Amino acid sequence: MATDPHDSEASSPHLWRHFSDMGGAVPQVFVEGEGSYLIDDSGDRYLDALSNLYCVNLGYSYGPEMGRAAFAQYCQLGYHSSWGSTHPRALELADRLAALAPAGLNHVFFTPSGGESVEAAWKLARAFAVANGEDRWKIISRHSAYHGTTLGALALNGLDHLREQFAPMLIPSIRTSNTRRLIDAGADSVEDGVRELLDELEEQIVENDPSTIAALIVEPVQNHGGMLTAPPSYFAGLRRLCDAYGLLLVADETITAFGRCGEWFASERYGLDPDIIVTAKGLSSAHAVMGAVIASDRVFRPFLDPGASFLHGNTFGGHPVMAAVALKNLEIMERIDLPGQVTARQTALEDRLRSLSDLEVVHNVRGAGYLWAVELASAASDAPGGRRIWGPLELEKRLHQLGVLTRVAFDDDIAIINVAPPLVAEQTEFDIIVDALRSVLSDVSAEALRRLDHVSSRPR
Ligand SMILES: Cc1ncc(COP(=O)(O)O)c(C=O)c1O
Repeated sequence: MATDPHDSEASSPHLWRHFSDMGGAVPQVFVEGEGSYLIDDSGDRYLDALSNLYCVNLGYSYGPEMGRAAFAQYCQLGYHSSWGSTHPRALELADRLAALAPAGLNHVFFTPSGGESVEAAWKLARAFAVANGEDRWKIISRHSAYHGTTLGALALNGLDHLREQFAPMLIPSIRTSNTRRLIDAGADSVEDGVRELLDELEEQIVENDPSTIAALIVEPVQNHGGMLTAPPSYFAGLRRLCDAYGLLLVADETITAFGRCGEWFASERYGLDPDIIVTAKGLSSAHAVMGAVIASDRVFRPFLDPGASFLHGNTFGGHPVMAAVALKNLEIMERIDLPGQVTARQTALEDRLRSLSDLEVVHNVRGAGYLWAVELASAASDAPGGRRIWGPLELEKRLHQLGVLTRVAFDDDIAIINVAPPLVAEQTEFDIIVDALRSVLSDVSAEALRRLDHVSSRPR
């Protein structure tokens, strides 16, 4: 049985953790990883059902191989920038990414993170417009979508509560609906829902003066909000609207690329045909600090003009050691055909997760590949308090006690358990995750349903 993190004695007053209650519990300290598992400083083992931050695609067992690649690169050339001149690993990695990316996306700009890739994509869309004699600067993103926390990326974040404190925002952005409404639609009305979403988007484009809008950014599967998927007709509609009004279509594949949804890039799975792809995390399985923006031939073309230059750069984008690690990551993924493995095993994961649907508190199970959401019943009722129901029941903590690490996210009042294990996870891990979920949800369901009933019967 795993120990409670509150019992850990390891602590430092100096480390300021991200998005953390620093006055709260002493943090658990993880010291080792193996396959899909993390081991803490007490020797307790946990199944990482979230791939840490949806990023450790290869799991934790390839460190030595990645380390040897890093060591070799340190011995050869520990640093060189991507400003003007370059180095072999950046060239090789750009070639690899262009080969793996959807057809026509051939130009790779390295960054140090997902958020900075998002910002670089916005700057690129703006610079592309300027190069074409246009003045476009606004960007459209979707409600609830997470695109990072640096000031530029924050501006187009669809999570209002993350933005409010830091207003005013740098980039004027417009929020359009995500695809949540398609979830509850019966099979017959999905296409009606798609039409409504596209009509809404078109109205927003027109209302906000199309000639000022540079881009639309979407995830192929929207993580925040609960793994929101959409049929290819929706993505084809986005492409049509972007073409009609001169917007660039940006796919934020920070989470969904590199096998997470089966394909190397989830855009291919859903027929999303982007002008720019944003990546990070799985590019190195988070073993290196590395992101990339991959642009189409059309977007790249103006920057070939004599004297033209994309006025963007940083010290660490394309770092040779990070690039060497990312190359090794892609080599291992190809060697063991990790995307193929996800494609082969995704139905087994889906079936196991869907088996939870018999629990009254489970409202919906959805996702793709190794990226799943178990949405809880607060959404099914008209109760105004998912957080108040599930928060006190501390699902994360109870799962943690059973040795499963994951996150319960709240989209407004809707509680969603996220399941996104490393792509090396197999049936054994699926069983551990689903057994823990069943145990915890069965345990809390009576209390939760009582609370749901209580909340929904209150006057609003
Ligand atoms: C879709 C998406 N875009 C951007 C980001 C930001 O990436 P980073 O944390 O590397 O800045 C994230 C992070 O989770 C993300 O999920």
